[in-house]
Amino acid sequence: GDVAVLVPAAGAGVRLGPGGPKALRLLGGEPLLVHAVRRVAEAPSVATIVVAAPAADVDHVRRLLAPVAPVTVVPGGADRQQSVAAALAAVPPGPQIVLVHDAARALTPATLVELVAARVRAGHDAVIPVLPVTDTIKEVSADDVVLGTVDRSVLRAVQTPQGFRRSVLVAAHAAALDPLTDDAGLVEKSGGTVTCVPGSELALKITRPFDLMLAEHLLSGGVR
Ligand code: CTP
Ligand code: MG
Repeated sequence: GDVAVLVPAAGAGVRLGPGGPKALRLLGGEPLLVHAVRRVAEAPSVATIVVAAPAADVDHVRRLLAPVAPVTVVPGGADRQQSVAAALAAVPPGPQIVLVHDAARALTPATLVELVAARVRAGHDAVIPVLPVTDTIKEVSADDVVLGTVDRSVLRAVQTPQGFRRSVLVAAHAAALDPLTDDAGLVEKSGGTVTCVPGSELALKITRPFDLMLAEHLLSGGVR
C-alpha cells in the first residue's frame, strides 16, 4: 500500500447533542470511529492510518482500535484543521498519497477510499468525492430576506475521503492561515487544482440526531 489515511476524530459532536465526543458515540453498538476505521482498513491501498482523537481519550481510542486495524493515535487540536495537521505530522516516511477522512462519515465504503486514492495515483494533486445538490439553494440576509437563488447545477456537496499527493497536502497545511472545513479548500487557496469524483450517499456525515438515526436504519437494513 502507498496510502496513508488521516482520520480526524477529535470533535465534540455539539450538533449531535449530549453524549460525549461524536467519534465515540455508538452506531449499531460500536463507536462511529470503529466503523470508519474498519472500512478504511478494508481498502487494499491503505498502509497507514493515523487517528486524531480527543486529547482526553487517546489511550482509550488506542485500546478501542487495536483489534480493528494497526493505527497510530495522536491528540487532536482545537479545530478540525489542527487535528488534521497533528495527524499529518505523525505519518511515517513512505506513503506518497495521503487521504483525510472524517470519523463522522462512519459508513463510507472502502471502494470510495480506493477510488479517491486511485485518482491521486493517476496524477491528480487533490481529489474530492462530491454529490449533486438536490435542494434549491438561496442566499439569505441576516434578517431572513431572500437575496437570490443560486444556480444549483454548478454546485456540489463535498464529502471525504479527500485525497492528496503528500507533498501537496503538506504544503497546503504549511501555508494555511484561517481554519477551513476541508483540506481541499487549503489546496484551492494555495492555487492548486482540485478534481472531483462521484461520491457515495453512504459517505454521509453523521452531524445531527437525524443522521445517526438514518445510519442506524441503513445498518439494520443490511448496509455494511
Ligand atoms: N474534528 C476533529 N477535531 C476537531 C473538530 C472536528 O478531529 N477539533 C473531526 C470530527 O471528529 C469529525 C470531523 O472532524 O470526524 C468533521 O467534523 P464535524 O462533523 O463538525 O464533527 P464535530 O466537530 O465533532 O461536530 P460539531 O461541529 O457538531 O461539534
Ligand atoms: Mg465541527
